[in-house]
Amino acid sequence: MKSFEEVFGGAPQAVGSAPGRVNLLGEHTDYNDGYVLPIAIPQRTHVALRRRSSDGFVAYAANLDSTATFNLDAPPSDAFATYLYGCVIEARADGFDVPPLDIHLSSNVPIGVGLSSSAALEVAMLRAMRALLQLPLDDVRLAQIAQRAEVLHAGVRCGIMDQMAASLAGTDQALFLDTRTLQRRLVPLPPQSAVLVIDSGIKRSLATSAFNQRRAECEEAVEQLGVTALRDIGIRDLSALDKLEEPLRSRARHVITENDRVLRAVEGTNAVQFGALMNASHASLRDDFDVSVPALDRLVALLQADSEVYGARLTGAGFGGACVALCRPSAISRIATQVLNDYANDGFSGAILVPPP
Ligand code: GLA
Repeated sequence: MKSFEEVFGGAPQAVGSAPGRVNLLGEHTDYNDGYVLPIAIPQRTHVALRRRSSDGFVAYAANLDSTATFNLDAPPSDAFATYLYGCVIEARADGFDVPPLDIHLSSNVPIGVGLSSSAALEVAMLRAMRALLQLPLDDVRLAQIAQRAEVLHAGVRCGIMDQMAASLAGTDQALFLDTRTLQRRLVPLPPQSAVLVIDSGIKRSLATSAFNQRRAECEEAVEQLGVTALRDIGIRDLSALDKLEEPLRSRARHVITENDRVLRAVEGTNAVQFGALMNASHASLRDDFDVSVPALDRLVALLQADSEVYGARLTGAGFGGACVALCRPSAISRIATQVLNDYANDGFSGAILVPPP
């Protein structure tokens, strides 16, 4: 991979980095003003910057060995540069003057599997910009600018979870976040547990359109129920959903039960209880929210059948991508090998993502 110096012939003036994340519980709740529980993964995205003497932006993605040039008059055609463009445009919308830049990025965050490689890129870029330009930006506002970059320029009507996780989560403790108030606290994993993430090998096809469709369904349910957000319906008020037709009733039921699972998980649950909540989350994502696919169901079933796995579920938006499991720490590599073997015997091809191989 080419370094900044090799590409631009000089040293960078500022750097920034941010991790990917895996969401433990609270899926498709963030754009419903609900609760989420992501944790950072060890893999990170790095951005290095230098001011340019001439106009425009030059961005080099080391992993792709690809260069994109763009100015702020029109969005770039390269996907990776679109995120950078979005960060610059949205920082300027907040009143920050951003000069022309040479940009170098490199990453070991897995792409397109539900571990928020795009949020890692956005937050790393904004951190590097903050360092270079000494922007008076705290980590929350930085995450909010990153989210706007994604929604307004990458076309995914995402919530705030991924950017908040990339900006504020660590790898040791999960970030319990109320996405309405942005109140948050760090929560340790249950004792005697560790996180395993496995890629199903199934590419997330139609993820953007299906994601936006789910969001529209939630908005339709909100409209018919006459509430501000699905968050406002508590677990004891599920009967309020009776007036909805399918599939809106199931979509809303997932969000409401999922919020409840997050709240229960952060009440000092042990690993067994936490795992049961993860298993219930997967069933709800599959049956009520309809964002699973057969390969994810198979992988999750193999994980759940292992006696040293407390619980497992698909993670991220769904429609393919990765599964997360909470496991007995000493058994992680044995579990991964065995599950991947059984999964291969079913004709699928998975891979371990966390702990990084
Ligand atoms: C994607 C979005 C997040 C969140 C998850 C589903 O990762 O970017 O905002 O909605 O899907 O929980």
